[in-house]
Amino acid sequence: MQFKGRDVIAIKDFTKAEIMHILDEAEKLVPAAKGTTRMTNLEGRILCTLFFEPSTRTRLSFESAMQILGGGVIGFADPTGSSVTKGETLADTVRMADAFGDAIVLRHPLEGAARLASEHSNIPVINAGDGAGQHPTQTLLDLFTIKRAKGKIEGNKVILLGDLKYGRTVHSMAYALAMFGVEICFVSPKGLEMPREVIRGISSFGTETRETHDLAGVLPEADVLYVTRIQKERFPDVEDYLKVAGTYRIDIEMLKKAKSDLIVMHPLPRVDEIAKEVDSTPHAWYFKQAFSAIPVRMAILKLIIEGDAS
Ligand code: NCD
Repeated sequence: MQFKGRDVIAIKDFTKAEIMHILDEAEKLVPAAKGTTRMTNLEGRILCTLFFEPSTRTRLSFESAMQILGGGVIGFADPTGSSVTKGETLADTVRMADAFGDAIVLRHPLEGAARLASEHSNIPVINAGDGAGQHPTQTLLDLFTIKRAKGKIEGNKVILLGDLKYGRTVHSMAYALAMFGVEICFVSPKGLEMPREVIRGISSFGTETRETHDLAGVLPEADVLYVTRIQKERFPDVEDYLKVAGTYRIDIEMLKKAKSDLIVMHPLPRVDEIAKEVDSTPHAWYFKQAFSAIPVRMAILKLIIEGDAS
């Protein structure tokens, strides 16, 4: 398995075996991620984080992961402080990062931006979200979370809920779950269904999929409920957002219909999709999911910068 120098643009660029290898590596890195051991694998290496869109977890967890591995971080969290405001193109910004670092983490509002960046860079580019496109490293940490909670990925029934049209986390996740033969149920408000292109893309895996607007009807069967935020910033018209905002809200009352070992996940940030009262129930896995970002992103950085040597 060859990871060194590879880009991480879309989850389907990886085979199931490669995904499992990343998750196994991540498992080994949990003690370091918790701060109980120090690592020097990426000493002298530099990660360049270019964030053209807001981020809390993704950027901070990448930066933390790189530093735990002994490496350094440069970059920006807000393009208004960079030469982008002077009219520099993405291609030129990426060329600079290429000269200054060992890997690039890019978040950008345009779908396809990470792929384009990888064409202008000799060092690996990691897609940390390209508009409504993909978010492959989020998917890796989501799979890691399911594996930790349930012991395995296969055999679970997963509901992907919320904004399936604009949500990039669910686009990547749908591909990965299909690859693992997981039964997927897509639940969204009307007009925010999973894009046909994704449905067509995953059909070749032969996975059983279902689409509905009725969450209550499918919740009792589910092992994993993956909740997402309505992506307000992607709506061309705010009126359309207001029509669907608040369609689904997970609270304790609703979870009475669920299996006792259902796990509720959310890539975060949440707005009002999950009531705070759920946080203290055993169903709540979204904060543990956020912690998974550290070992999983450590594994990704270690594999693509250092290679498989340990
Ligand atoms: C997600 C994103 O940016 O796509 N956040 C994240 O990376 N954890 C989800 C979202 O913004 O709703």
